[in-house]
Amino acid sequence: MSYGDTAAVVETLRAHFGERISTAEAVRRHHGEDLSYLPTMLPDAVVFVESTAEVQRVVAACAAARVPIIPYGVGSSMEGQILATAGGISLDLSRMNRVLAVHESDFDVVVEPGVTRKALNEHLRATGLTFPVDPGADASLGGMASTRASGTNAVRYGTMRENVLALEVVLPNGELLRTGSRARKSSMGYDLTKLFVGAEGTLGVLTEITLRLHPVPAAISAAVCPFDSLKGAVDTCIATIQSGVPIARIEFLDDIAIAASNHYSKMSLTVAPTLFLEFHGTEAGIREQAEIVEAIAAENGGRGFQWATQREERERLWKARHDSNPATRAMRPGAAMFVTDACVPISALADNMTAARADGDASFLKFKINGHVGDGNFHVSYLVMPDAPKELAEAKRLAENVVMRALESGGTASGEHGVGLGKLKYLQREHGNGVDVMQSLKLALDPHAIMNPGKLGAPATAS
Ligand code: MLT
Ligand code: ZN
Repeated sequence: MSYGDTAAVVETLRAHFGERISTAEAVRRHHGEDLSYLPTMLPDAVVFVESTAEVQRVVAACAAARVPIIPYGVGSSMEGQILATAGGISLDLSRMNRVLAVHESDFDVVVEPGVTRKALNEHLRATGLTFPVDPGADASLGGMASTRASGTNAVRYGTMRENVLALEVVLPNGELLRTGSRARKSSMGYDLTKLFVGAEGTLGVLTEITLRLHPVPAAISAAVCPFDSLKGAVDTCIATIQSGVPIARIEFLDDIAIAASNHYSKMSLTVAPTLFLEFHGTEAGIREQAEIVEAIAAENGGRGFQWATQREERERLWKARHDSNPATRAMRPGAAMFVTDACVPISALADNMTAARADGDASFLKFKINGHVGDGNFHVSYLVMPDAPKELAEAKRLAENVVMRALESGGTASGEHGVGLGKLKYLQREHGNGVDVMQSLKLALDPHAIMNPGKLGAPATAS
């Protein structure tokens, strides 16, 4: 695919955007790298848009000149989703950061894509409502919808797929599309909202997102529980779900990650495979939930719950969980982290994680395993020194084994980090001729492949 001249489009757009269009090296560099191990890929220019009309203006100019557009939120993508594989314009949506409407009685909110998860919850503070999807990073909601993100409490509240009700999208020809509605259910034809959630900006630019909200629970409690074995922790998770306890979070960290957290986050946790748990409900409700889960854990080699009853303790516990990546990186100063993500039917989770552990133990790399075990979702994260091609090759080999085992177990190559460039090579293996359907959809909406080239249905320039 050959693309047009970005410089000419920049010239055209400068009259309107002035200082809000930049070709400065530092700005392009900032927009050409994310949280993945992948190399930096710079766009030719960055435009800071402030409204849907401005997005339409940029898209129309790029469509006319066949110049690539890469939607950009905060750059926290995990698989290279925002990397500019073919130059073009990075469309920075961070200034589209207004909460447009809160419908308290209907439990929904309409936001612009640059609103971050934390900013939204700050805005909602007085309402008693919350947007729970929590991938750890303070990602933009546009980015979270585009990558179908989830995180630590999807087991109770679902992923972005379940929490986006409706969208406004600027299509690759500059036209505006509205999908879905604020109704909780609909049987009116194809679900276009779900098509754009997870499309990674390859079909259009999300300019307005309607999200489900949930009540802030009356009572919350959290605990950690070390186990004799990884399998005991996973079996506890399965039995908890089977018991009907509406567990709000049930997260796994292996002994390596726990040791790293003790050091980095100044915790004093037992070094063992561990579950981090959170209960939401009424005071009486969470006590009852906790009793049931404590009994289940004890039957599966749990060595006792350590409670975080005060809010500060709870926040400290979850901060340690969310800081697990920097904590593990600190075990090997200067190392980068090669994170892989896979998701399997929960009955296959313990075997998949155990195999990943054995494979990693037989290697020379340092690594840790953590998981959103309630969803059958886990990450294996390898520490790799920059400029150490042997280490990178080994991490890729081990990660490939993780993914192939997950696919053989009836799972998926990416539970929540998306496809980007890192997982592109598994698309065919996972979807078979579904990839042809994706390509047809892509071509129908974006015949010149200007939307985020190299990703999903667009021609790939990297693997
Ligand atoms: C997490 O589980 O902490 C997030 O998905 C981020 C990550 O794995 O790196
Ligand atoms: Zn995760």
